Amino acid sequence: MRKLNFYYSLMLLAVGVMAASCSAPQEKEKTLKEAFDGKFLMGCAINVEQSSGRDVVGDSLIALHFNSIVAENCMKCEKIHPEENVYFWDDADRFVQFGEAHNMFIVGHCLIWHSQCAPWFFVDEKGGLVSAEVLKQRMKDHISTIVGRYKGRIKGWDVVNEAIMDDGSYRDTYFYQILGEEFIPFAFQCAHEADPDAELYLNDYSMAKPGKREAYVKLIGQLKEKGIRLDAIGIQAHAGMDYPDLQEMEQSIQAFIATGTDVMFTELDINALPNVFEDGHENAAVEERFEYEQRMNPYVEGMTEEAQRLWDSRVDGMLGLALKYHEHFRRVCVWGLCDQQSWLNDWPMPGRTNYPLLFDRNYQLKPVMKKYVK
Ligand code: G3I
Repeated sequence: MRKLNFYYSLMLLAVGVMAASCSAPQEKEKTLKEAFDGKFLMGCAINVEQSSGRDVVGDSLIALHFNSIVAENCMKCEKIHPEENVYFWDDADRFVQFGEAHNMFIVGHCLIWHSQCAPWFFVDEKGGLVSAEVLKQRMKDHISTIVGRYKGRIKGWDVVNEAIMDDGSYRDTYFYQILGEEFIPFAFQCAHEADPDAELYLNDYSMAKPGKREAYVKLIGQLKEKGIRLDAIGIQAHAGMDYPDLQEMEQSIQAFIATGTDVMFTELDINALPNVFEDGHENAAVEERFEYEQRMNPYVEGMTEEAQRLWDSRVDGMLGLALKYHEHFRRVCVWGLCDQQSWLNDWPMPGRTNYPLLFDRNYQLKPVMKKYVK
């Protein structure tokens, strides 16, 4: 009898353990794309190491967590169209193949941008600036060749990048000098003709600035009046510890939405380091450069708890806006996967140790994101 009781107790214990393990299953963490499913696409800018398969760990994380990718560099004019009749497709082809292999919404970046534009673009055979007619022909060739090659495969294009200054004036680029404001609708028309189904975007940084906000609202209205296709405004969202002012950012989001146009955060990162610019101005102008100074690189061994708390709250603030306006937010795209891969380690000062992205230097999702994926 005693023996029977022993076996009976053992059986009860086993059943109990089984029941416990069935009734309290370990919840599997969601991926980022699952966490924001139904709200917006979760995108990542990928570099050539990743699209070519050399960053094996990075690639597996990108495939797991993101349902959209954008080309960080390989589709910029100087890379993809370095000379008038020379296109370099290898990296861009691999980028698109990577996105297709993982069933992602693929975004092309960027067709018309004053920066990283190949030098031949604006110059005639005598070294002078080309005429308006020639520039339009070159723009058309550039846009229709690239968009045409990936027709139906790249689903959205940053057509014009960073055309407006913080005060709302047009940036004084060669595109603007030669063609005036007309270069923007013209670029959109060329892109639309090359792939009528592709989504088309305007994209810019410091969008929380009132001058820029007003200029874009006006520009959206002008494009609409002309019947030009414009699907969304790309708010780059290169943020820092004290910028943008989230209320100003919200006002910009509201203002863009009020025009009937959707919005996206297209290049989200949060610069954890001290602002190098004397006037504290926020920007992402790649041509701005400063000499290295140690005092501007305080977190070589890791962020302080206080800095980390502030950084976390900035992430929450930006994601909070995207979630609040999710009905009009198409995509939140981070500008790189892991901290060590960010452009912000070398801009605007080279050689700093920055912490701007959602994954750390060990490819781990940062703790602040745990509440979203739980
Ligand atoms: O690939 C070369 C490498 O061969 C060479 O050894 C090395 C030496 O400098 O340069 C490498 O190219 C660099 C490239 O990034 C790839 O790392 C370029 O110098 C560097 O200028 C380039 O910077 C990129 C920058 O745009 C300019 O195109 C950043 O990675 C990229 O994150 C940044 O992205 C821009 C967006 O397109 C537009 N919005 C702002 C954003 C941040 O500046």
